[in-house]
Amino acid sequence: MTAKQTWNPERYAQNARFVSDLGMPVVELLAPQPGERILDLGCGDGALTAKLAACGCDVVGVDSSPEQIAAATARGLDARVMDGQALDFEGEIDAVFSNAALHWMPQADAVIAGVRRALRPGGRFVGEFGGQGNIAAIVHALYTALHRRGIEAAALNPWHYPSADEYRGGLETHGFSVRYIALIPRPTPLPADISGWLETFAGVFLSAAPEDDRPALISELREALRPTLFDAEGRWVVDYVRLRFAADRL
Ligand code: BEZ
Repeated sequence: MTAKQTWNPERYAQNARFVSDLGMPVVELLAPQPGERILDLGCGDGALTAKLAACGCDVVGVDSSPEQIAAATARGLDARVMDGQALDFEGEIDAVFSNAALHWMPQADAVIAGVRRALRPGGRFVGEFGGQGNIAAIVHALYTALHRRGIEAAALNPWHYPSADEYRGGLETHGFSVRYIALIPRPTPLPADISGWLETFAGVFLSAAPEDDRPALISELREALRPTLFDAEGRWVVDYVRLRFAADRL
């Protein structure tokens, strides 16, 4: 049984606000129209859901994290706790939007099938998430540091990063016509130290180590990542690779 990622909205706001800030190109690819019924899949704390609502859309956000949904609801949004791998909508949605969430849902086929069920014919599925090679340096460092402690990190890994061909295949199998799909390397400067990123996003790996070993684990990871991710200007720059796509339900 793998541990579950938990979200602390304050820590998220400190270390991860860039995630929604960098999501605007995906909103542009969606081209939301006033009055459209939009589902924000993996809406997190609702930062982009609010942008869609501000475009005049009728938006519902879903996320598996009760903490994030509480933060989204506090913005006055319609946001519901729901597993993206078991969506509960039927032909009522004009467009499904998703930013930086699908890599947390390893059952990609179940996600795509649920999105198809949710959409009306001709509806759009537009999103961006971690694709093949995403955060490879961080994954390697986590695996190495945990292996040194006798812990099998692969069994804990909550992320999946498909290639463009693999994801295109999944979309087509489930009755989508793919308008656009591309892997986009996007090295991303962090607003804070890499330890904040690790604590925000890699909790399932960190919590596999005994509590009193975690500070040592984090400093070991920092030192292992410094040569590749710490740049000459003194910034931590994470090796993100985005998989961005737009598809239409046939
Ligand atoms: C991502 O957005 O690619 C990502 C964020 C946190 C953990 C893993 C991947």
